[in-house]
Amino acid sequence: MSQNEIEQNAAAIRQKYSDAFPKTALILGSGLGGFADTLEGSTIISYEEIPTFPQSTVQGHAGRLVIGNAGGVTIACMQGRMHLYEGYEAQRLGISIRTLYSLGVETLIITNAAGGIKQGLTPGGLMVITDHINFSGHNPLIGPNDDSFGVRFPDMTNAYDPGLRAELHQVAKEKSIDLQEGVYLQLTGPSFETPAEIRMLKTLGADAVGMSTVPECIVARHCGMRVAGLSVITNLAAGIADHEITHEDTMENADRALDNFSTMMTEFLRRISAQPSNGANHKNPLSG
Ligand code: HPA
Repeated sequence: MSQNEIEQNAAAIRQKYSDAFPKTALILGSGLGGFADTLEGSTIISYEEIPTFPQSTVQGHAGRLVIGNAGGVTIACMQGRMHLYEGYEAQRLGISIRTLYSLGVETLIITNAAGGIKQGLTPGGLMVITDHINFSGHNPLIGPNDDSFGVRFPDMTNAYDPGLRAELHQVAKEKSIDLQEGVYLQLTGPSFETPAEIRMLKTLGADAVGMSTVPECIVARHCGMRVAGLSVITNLAAGIADHEITHEDTMENADRALDNFSTMMTEFLRRISAQPSNGANHKNPLSG
């Protein structure tokens, strides 16, 4: 994650998109990529065109940066992300986040597909992430600290911004969308958990389980971005439902959630773009 590498990526993106870069970016999880297809007037940049963006290798993850308009607000969407289980080192998962930050992004909305552990979570439903448990055994900030992005020991007390969480709840209420909340726990995958593991994770305080999000949140918080997290519950975690879990089923349930997700996200984006910018925290390392 050298600064030179981030700079090269940012330059490649600027060459394809020369307007003022959006202040808000969205990472779309498994099955939610369709949201980026609904953006108006979009510019699409394949990850292959960005020099050191890792390539996404998973079905359901397109691997494109889509910049376009949702409900009157211009946003940047990562349609597809990279995961530890694809073999990427944790440090490499931060490249895209730092690149977005360097382009001026201040707010990062991270979405994912997750298995529901807490009672009340149902397949096809949505959960605001209140906090996370990094149970992956990895951290993207391991290695020399780049002080131009943030401090050696970043605080994670309010990793998922309380103001953004409240706004998501408010939007859901007004749109009559059931929105749960809970703690997201990340494992590396790619195997789903065993029922015994899920029982253990429950006692540890996990409400939902998945294979992403945590590294991105850590890198974003390190450089002072505001983070919101939203899980689509694609299945009940292992042993809670009486059937096996397949990627195809999870994709199908994510698809069922897409309408509610899009309605909520579009209104949420409109509202947060109307709020004063938190740009004071933004110290773009590339502009000194
Ligand atoms: N476990 C881990 N990751 C997941 C799950 C799950 O049950 N569902 C979607 N992503």
